[in-house]
Amino acid sequence: MTKYVITGGKHLHGKVRVHGAKNAGFKEMIAALLCDSPSEIKNLSYIGDIENTTEIIRCLGGRVTDRGNRTMEIDPKSLDSFNAPKSCGLKSRAGTIFVGPLLAKFKKAVLPIPGGDKIGARPIDRHLAGLEALGATVKLKDGVFIITAAKGLRGGNFRFPKNTHTGTETLLLAAVRASGRTVLENAAAEPEVDDLITFLNQAGAKIKRTEPRTIVIDGVAHLRGATHEVMTDRNTVVTFACAALATKGEVFVERADNKVLGAFLEKVREIGGLWETREEGINFRWEKPLRAADITAAPYPAFMTDWQAVWATLMTQAVGTSEITETIFENRFGYVPFLVSMGAKMELFNPQVLNPEDFYNFNLGDDKPENLHALKITGPTPLAGKQVEANDVRMGATMILAGLVASGKTVIIDTHDQVARGYENLAENLVSLGAAIEIIPGDVVAYTKRPAVTATVEQ
Ligand code: EPU
Repeated sequence: MTKYVITGGKHLHGKVRVHGAKNAGFKEMIAALLCDSPSEIKNLSYIGDIENTTEIIRCLGGRVTDRGNRTMEIDPKSLDSFNAPKSCGLKSRAGTIFVGPLLAKFKKAVLPIPGGDKIGARPIDRHLAGLEALGATVKLKDGVFIITAAKGLRGGNFRFPKNTHTGTETLLLAAVRASGRTVLENAAAEPEVDDLITFLNQAGAKIKRTEPRTIVIDGVAHLRGATHEVMTDRNTVVTFACAALATKGEVFVERADNKVLGAFLEKVREIGGLWETREEGINFRWEKPLRAADITAAPYPAFMTDWQAVWATLMTQAVGTSEITETIFENRFGYVPFLVSMGAKMELFNPQVLNPEDFYNFNLGDDKPENLHALKITGPTPLAGKQVEANDVRMGATMILAGLVASGKTVIIDTHDQVARGYENLAENLVSLGAAIEIIPGDVVAYTKRPAVTATVEQ
């Protein structure tokens, strides 16, 4: 457990560097297991999800060597098990991504039901249907999936019934060494998927995005190890941007890439925040009171679901009424009662939707009557420090932002180190920008390898 004790009211100023994307880096480490020789994955963030993945790869007999400077070498040659222990898989969404490499090597994969943030039911039916379309047999027994392809996978056509980011990546990794051609339709368009494709193609794969949502994979017999630099974490960039604007400050986010942030930058402009792209990144600046604006979180290129929580805290400081509609996960407003306890004026409701099956990305059957899918926020509202919780990665970030804005002390209880699972030194970086945050690590300091913040931040 980590505790963050924040004394709010400071304006953030300075420069911060963002490293590799959580939702690309760990998947590229797993993809390296498809190769015959070692790969180097560079620019990885030092976060819990990378540690979890390292642990699972080692459990399977693979070698992961930290080469320093955010570079991991993944050597797949010693891989000797298709059986990922339950304890390794529960903490992360990585599970199904292992299926492709394990089927390619052993024709069998035994995997625990994937864990990750508690933001909805998060089933993997779309992944499994896709694997079956490529010839795999899937059985669920005692909480583990047993997936086999006795004769190896064969290419095929598969249309995802709805968008799935990790499902697309699971299928990519399965198809890349299958025999023949696979065509994935209605595949996810998230830039992290393309970053993974770039790595796989460098390793000798033949993958092309022929349409925005169609990916064609010609299976190859072998991949060789490759070197790849992970794309910048978009979610961390957005978190620092919202922190700068919410605290009426100015922060230059080094390595932020405007090409994959379009929906966010448009909204920043709409609310009257300033941003400017420079050679090395994007500068975000508060100039005058912000105006409220509505967002709908939906698949790329729309406003991302991972950004809505920090956006909600930002909107508590904007003038007017705004709405956030969440279409991806059925239960991603866990932060609302805590922000309300701090004084935010917020109300959850269900929007009127003509065709819920098309509108919502989750399976309607997984929804529950108590889940509400939109949030109305009225601002600006002064927030007051309280004790709150961080129950998922983005909720943790938004609680920290709320603490920066609030008067007095905010104590954030992060029981399962969620913030460190997804952000490298988030609180430490905010301190380097002028925030007053005391970080109280629990008995177990999970992420000992994180470098000191002075190495990444110039003021
Ligand atoms: N879904 C199904 N069945 C499936 C797959 C998905 O019902 O087989 C549902 C999910 O429950 C969800 C929706 O479809 O309601 C979309 O799920 P998707 O598969 O796209 O999400 P994911 O792959 O589980 C990844 C990121 C999330 C990010 C989403 C959306 C990783 C490890 N996670 O989740 O990141 O919000 O895509 O882009 O890549 C985070 O970083 O905090 C995070 C939650």
